[in-house]
Amino acid sequence: MNFVEFFAGVGLVREGLSPDGWECVWANDISQDKKDTYVKNYGENDFFLDDVWNVVKSPALIPDSAFLYTASFPCTDLSVAGGRAGLAGSESGTLNAVLEIISLKKKNGNQPKVVLLENVKGFLTSHQGKDVANTVKIFSALGYYVDLIELDAYFFTPQSRSRVFLVAVDEEVAGSVMCIKEKNRILTDWWSIFDRNPDLRSVKVKNIIKQNESLNWGIFDIPTPHRTRLVLGDIIETDIDENSSVWWNDERKDHLFNQMSDSHQTILNGMAIKQCYSYGTVYRRMRKGKSTAELRTDGVAGCLRTPRGGSSKQILIRAGYDDWRVRLLTSREYARLQGVRDDFILPENANKGYFAMGDAVCVPVIQYLSNNVLTPLFNKWEMNTSNGLDQRC
Ligand SMILES: C[S@@+](CC[C@H](N)C(=O)[O-])C[C@H]1O[C@@H](n2cnc3c(N)ncnc32)[C@H](O)[C@@H]1O
Repeated sequence: MNFVEFFAGVGLVREGLSPDGWECVWANDISQDKKDTYVKNYGENDFFLDDVWNVVKSPALIPDSAFLYTASFPCTDLSVAGGRAGLAGSESGTLNAVLEIISLKKKNGNQPKVVLLENVKGFLTSHQGKDVANTVKIFSALGYYVDLIELDAYFFTPQSRSRVFLVAVDEEVAGSVMCIKEKNRILTDWWSIFDRNPDLRSVKVKNIIKQNESLNWGIFDIPTPHRTRLVLGDIIETDIDENSSVWWNDERKDHLFNQMSDSHQTILNGMAIKQCYSYGTVYRRMRKGKSTAELRTDGVAGCLRTPRGGSSKQILIRAGYDDWRVRLLTSREYARLQGVRDDFILPENANKGYFAMGDAVCVPVIQYLSNNVLTPLFNKWEMNTSNGLDQRC
């Protein structure tokens, strides 16, 4: 089971696929820092450091043996925090390079059988849904059937991180593994698959399909994951010295406290008087032109981000035994929130660690997709190619 990883970053897609036996035959990213971490964990052999647009000029660089291409392409132009240039933007627009590569491979009959894209939920709404619809249109024209699946990291780790996955399956395989839509007609029982698992495909997805019915849609009838029992307190590094300089001094603590609303201050005071530790996270946000500190105490961290501008690092509060203390989450704690094993080598520089993890995919989310979609797909394709079967759903 060979795959190729575009926008590989530090390799967390690979982390999620490897346990099922997927083998990365080629990986690409433009960032030297990301490459350094990737290579420390997986070695140098497969990594091609360059702008993906340069790969378009030499698609032969990519081994033809790859069954699967993955691309967790930059979200900068799709996220609500960005300028929302969408796929016309220079960063998120790098998806177009991957689509061109697939098209070039198709001309030689070497296209991947499956493509997995990952991005923020803004992908569904960018340019009023036109960006995602155009992407599906391109895949349809290339002979793929497409499913859109929404998954939140909180099913697997104590982090709220909602993402959309586009799975495109070559028509040669699609009919035997997906419930595919007949041309220009969506079957009523097709929608019941959506309604059984509303967490996996929101009304937004349904509307995109309804507005673009003529495209090649196919869906996987997969279960909604069970929600993890892990909470924030379970991923905390507990061996940090009480005298370490990572803990904030009283002046910084007071400043943070004063940025909280009255109700959040009351919650924090309540946590502090308990005779056990409890944990919360704080995000600084601008509200009506004022910098505020928002406390979250439901046992789930907010969505990790890359610390551009320095304001988006996640703050940890530990309260209990008539006290409360504050520090930033460590990059190892970031990694744990992304479901990364503790022996995964992180950058020594904490800031690079925050970048690596804030940008990355949540490993068990990829494992879930591997277990429920990608690996069964490969197995079915292998079985079909050996006995010529075509079982329509
Ligand atoms: C959302 S991150 C993907 C992270 C990755 N999946 C991981 O688990 O670490 C997007 C990646 O795209 C890379 N990137 C941005 N522009 C690129 C380009 N023009 N060519 C290749 N890679 C690019 C960034 O360096 C970043 O690592």
